[in-house]
Amino acid sequence: MIACPSVRKSSIRTHYNLATLFYRLLWGPHIHHGYWTSDESPRAAQLALTERLATLARIKSGEQLLDIGCGMGGSSIHLAKTRHCHATGVTLSRVQRIWSAASAAAQGVGRNTSFRCADAESIAFEQTSFDVIWSVECTEHLFDKPAFFQRAAQWLKPGGRMAICAWLAGDQLDTAARRKQVYDVCDGFLCPSLGSSADYVDWMQHAGLRVERVEDWTSKVARTWEICRDRVRKSRVRWLARCLHGESTLFLDRFDTLLSAYETGAMKYGCFIATNDA
Ligand SMILES: C[S@@+](CC[C@H](N)C(=O)[O-])C[C@H]1O[C@@H](n2cnc3c(N)ncnc32)[C@H](O)[C@@H]1O
Repeated sequence: MIACPSVRKSSIRTHYNLATLFYRLLWGPHIHHGYWTSDESPRAAQLALTERLATLARIKSGEQLLDIGCGMGGSSIHLAKTRHCHATGVTLSRVQRIWSAASAAAQGVGRNTSFRCADAESIAFEQTSFDVIWSVECTEHLFDKPAFFQRAAQWLKPGGRMAICAWLAGDQLDTAARRKQVYDVCDGFLCPSLGSSADYVDWMQHAGLRVERVEDWTSKVARTWEICRDRVRKSRVRWLARCLHGESTLFLDRFDTLLSAYETGAMKYGCFIATNDA
């Protein structure tokens, strides 16, 4: 695991309160990578990632799903619409909570979704409340990842599934240059640490879950950053971001770092499915 101790939770909250508009303009209602198998549009690729994870997680009609780090509600709303589950989204950002609830209502799934502004590292739920715990690209922002998995595993019903997509530190961080690439990504994208694939498996197993699937999606998702980099270059997003909040622009300058971290193997992108067999 690579740690970046300078990251503060208050900065993560401020980032999403301010940058959500830019993510929406640059990328769309999902704040996560796309998954490409050919030359799909970015929008189709984002939905493909959501769909692929939903299929692996075997989400069924009527199930209770907890979406940790729900962003603008992209996954929760899509899954409530297409898989007819009930989704509870949790986000650190008040702006995102309001955005998600308004979007869900506008798309006709206001009753099948609920959104809370809360810290996933301290929020409490009754034990065995959920059939699925879903988290796409949020665990990177958590400060005590093993503790989160310990608590979240308790919220799963017997037979419940945990479905995670995460940015990962590569398995072979044997050079200072590679470790620096990961550190720079953590610093630019406000990740207090990035775990490796083996770390995630370890955390889930220690939480009592059976890890049934681990997939490396790096080569399928990396195109995301080429597209984002080109869109930032061609648009006035950087200028707008600087006018609104100069400190929030670092992530816009780190797209190349991320791309090259994927190329060198310093970083990976992983998908994990784990089950509560209790
Ligand atoms: C990269 S975005 C992903 C959003 C969403 N999962 C998606 O795929 O569109 C990261 C999300 O994690 C949330 N987040 C970060 N730290 C959090 C925490 N401690 N508790 C709850 N949410 C958190 C942010 O508010 C943001 O919504």
